[in-house]
Amino acid sequence: MSEEDLVIDVRGLNKHFGDKHVVRDLALQVRRGEIFGFLGPNGSGKTTSIRMLCGLLTPDSGAGQCLGLDVLQDSSAIKRQVGYMTQRFSLWEDLTIRENLDFVGRMFGMADRRQAVDNTLRELGLLERQQQLAGTLSGGWKQRLALASCLLHRPRLLLLDEPTAGVDPKARRDFWEEIHRLSAAGITVLVSTHYMDEAERCHRLAYIADGELLASGTASEVVAAQQLFTWRITGPLLQGLAERLGQLPGVELVASFGTALHVSGQDSTLLQHSLSQALAGSELAMQQLEPSLEDAFIHLMHYRRRQPGATP
Ligand SMILES: Nc1ncnc2c1ncn2[C@@H]1O[C@H](COP(=O)(O)OP(=O)(O)OP(=O)(O)O)[C@@H](O)[C@H]1O
Ligand SMILES: [Mg+2]
Repeated sequence: MSEEDLVIDVRGLNKHFGDKHVVRDLALQVRRGEIFGFLGPNGSGKTTSIRMLCGLLTPDSGAGQCLGLDVLQDSSAIKRQVGYMTQRFSLWEDLTIRENLDFVGRMFGMADRRQAVDNTLRELGLLERQQQLAGTLSGGWKQRLALASCLLHRPRLLLLDEPTAGVDPKARRDFWEEIHRLSAAGITVLVSTHYMDEAERCHRLAYIADGELLASGTASEVVAAQQLFTWRITGPLLQGLAERLGQLPGVELVASFGTALHVSGQDSTLLQHSLSQALAGSELAMQQLEPSLEDAFIHLMHYRRRQPGATP
């Protein structure tokens, strides 16, 4: 891959807040036009990493480039060239959709502001609602306006921090169609999310826990790298069953999925043997599954917690 194809290419990024090491030796490469997902538990360092990439936060150490600009030296230029949708974005609720965009255009000092607002309204399907006050929009439309605001200055890189948190499935789906449309137009998107279905819509993704990047690749590469075997247990699930299964040799994690339990481990033979013995004579059934991305992430989190020095 040539360097020009990489819109983000950083390594060894570290950030401390006080004595807390929040991002550890982060290395990340994102290709042009790619939709790259950023996943990890609350407090794992996603927002902090995004803020270092867009020039809002200076890394304590590390090196690399974003949009061909140096992440340590050129932070002001990076800030102007990326579109950043913050995790708790705010709109001017007393202004209309059009006025909100116009205001953003003024802040960027855009000479062709009117044209840019017209184009953005049209491209994001906001023309009909342009006179509506932002404060009266539903969550999904607010999200769309927030996206429009960070697209107005035509950035080549979008950093979206949990852009769909709290909006309904239809609005989330529409939002993702939009992201794919932008990606097809050559815009690179780094997007953090807690939703598994969204993770699967990304071209590639990374999983971060306690500030450390534990896995990256396509969804199927990330799942395969865990070398995990998963069984689904169904039947009259008894209280305490999950805990009992969790104690068995070969069982590394047990997770409830609706009316079933997913039981996973890396030693296939031992796992199958333990489960067969435990379920013998019961009304419970076991069936092997392809591990899902969620299984892989839960495994990664547990794995991380078992490491010496890991925060529990
Ligand atoms: N400005 C700050 N000052 C001190 N600590 C901070 C600051 N910003 C973040 N932190 C801490 O850094 C850690 C990582 O936070 P960050 O917001 O990057 O996590 P996150 O992965 O985005 O979490 P979430 O999924 O909840 O958004 C947390 O422990 C958080 O409390
Ligand atoms: Mg965050």
